[in-house]
Amino acid sequence: MKEVQDFYFKKAKKEGYPARSVYKLEEAQQKYHLLKPGNKVLDLGCQPGSWSMYAAKAVGPGGLVVGVDLTSGAIQTKVNSAKFNFLHGDITDELMLDKVREIRGEFDVIISDMAPRTTGNKWSDQQHSLILSRRVLEIALEMLAPQGNFYCKVFEGADFKEYFDTVRRYFKMTKVVKPKSSRNESREVFVLGMGFKKTTQSEE
Ligand SMILES: C[S@@+](CC[C@H](N)C(=O)[O-])C[C@H]1O[C@@H](n2cnc3c(N)ncnc32)[C@H](O)[C@@H]1O
Repeated sequence: MKEVQDFYFKKAKKEGYPARSVYKLEEAQQKYHLLKPGNKVLDLGCQPGSWSMYAAKAVGPGGLVVGVDLTSGAIQTKVNSAKFNFLHGDITDELMLDKVREIRGEFDVIISDMAPRTTGNKWSDQQHSLILSRRVLEIALEMLAPQGNFYCKVFEGADFKEYFDTVRRYFKMTKVVKPKSSRNESREVFVLGMGFKKTTQSEE
């Protein structure tokens, strides 16, 4: 296992990304092409910045990436990348969402690698992760453009199926993705939703 960690850690350093987590997005992108040139992307829990850097490169100079995180820090995107805006704060706070809305009300792709501060208590860690993931879905229901894509980290556990079944109602295609770069012992998985059915919510 350590060898795998070292491999992705070293690869990230070599490729100029601050975290190995970049490959959890790259693997999904290579298989499902969720990010397209020109897309406007909202990255929730973006620090230290690997996903934002990767997304900004993938969508290119015509695109936009807005990143939000509790932690602040400079994020330097690569050349030929989209414009990047960082917002410092808590995404569960409605005032923070207003700041996102001021920049843009609709995004083509919403990604979240947010994780709660883990306590070692599996049940409570999973419940906190679900609170964040449900928040990401709520934000998507408001801010994701029709046909938009969604990629969100969740800790698997007792209520995961209910969460996944809820996400399924809003997308043409959904998958549970466990990237190779995600540690086997980690309970994290990523819920992918492609082809947002914007009308579903208002029909309910
Ligand atoms: C695993 S890191 C993200 C790594 C990032 N995707 C990258 O590739 O560099 C998870 C981040 O989620 C952030 N986070 C957790 N809860 C949050 C919240 N309620 N609002 C905003 N950010 C949050 C944490 O501060 C942390 O930086």
